[in-house]
Amino acid sequence: MVVPTMGALHAGHAALIRAGAALARERHLGAGCIVTIFVNPTQFNDPADLERYPRSLEADAALCREAGAACVLAPAVHEVYPKPDFSPTPALPAVATSPGLEDARRPGHFAGVCQVVHRLFEITGPTCAMFGEKDWQQLQVVRALGLSWGGRRVEIVPVPTVREADGLAMSSRNAQLLPLARRAAGGLAAAFVEASRARNWEEAEATTARALARSGAEVEYAAVRDPLTLLPLPPGAREGRILWAVRLGGVRLIDNAPWRAASA
Ligand code: PAF
Repeated sequence: MVVPTMGALHAGHAALIRAGAALARERHLGAGCIVTIFVNPTQFNDPADLERYPRSLEADAALCREAGAACVLAPAVHEVYPKPDFSPTPALPAVATSPGLEDARRPGHFAGVCQVVHRLFEITGPTCAMFGEKDWQQLQVVRALGLSWGGRRVEIVPVPTVREADGLAMSSRNAQLLPLARRAAGGLAAAFVEASRARNWEEAEATTARALARSGAEVEYAAVRDPLTLLPLPPGAREGRILWAVRLGGVRLIDNAPWRAASA
């Protein structure tokens, strides 16, 4: 059982680790729950973003212990990637490049995620791995990768998003928000409530974008998609997954939730 993370751990990660530790106990997995902490350079397309990414290994190790992890693995870059061609990037599933979502804004990001997940699975040899629903597209990409270990497909177990009291999804990037931007970020989750009043997905997308912009955010995308393929919905579809990405106070935030059309 593995919980892959990039560190700067918060209550959302603690929920992943607790769920992982409980599952490891239930399934009598000898190695328990292994947490990996590795800020993967290959998934950052902006070197400044990689540089700025928060790092707090000591506090992270304490959180892992508290949440029931059996072991923390915090490898160096040369240990994960001993040679540039040591771990070829697995073929990118189609869901990684669904138009208008992450790939449009962070080209190459999911190739880096797939590469590191493949490598972390090689190192830890898990039967299952926990991934947060907060990164919904990442969850679908990793599921679609269908990686195997020891001849068995690694089970990808989703864990619901943990939110702050004002609805902001927990993220390591929240720590980069200055007080004014943090206050404004508390208004972002209200966009989901407004979208739930829309009678079709086209209206839900427009409503969401407007609600996010009202919080002072610069909207990168706000889209209602098929929950698994993340492809655009056909006209008349009454449910899907709403996903958005914004920049607020210089910090990039993403979130998602199920969406269902309001009845007439
Ligand atoms: O979600 C993350 O923190 C990262 O993308 C992951 C899965 C640990 C890969 O670096």
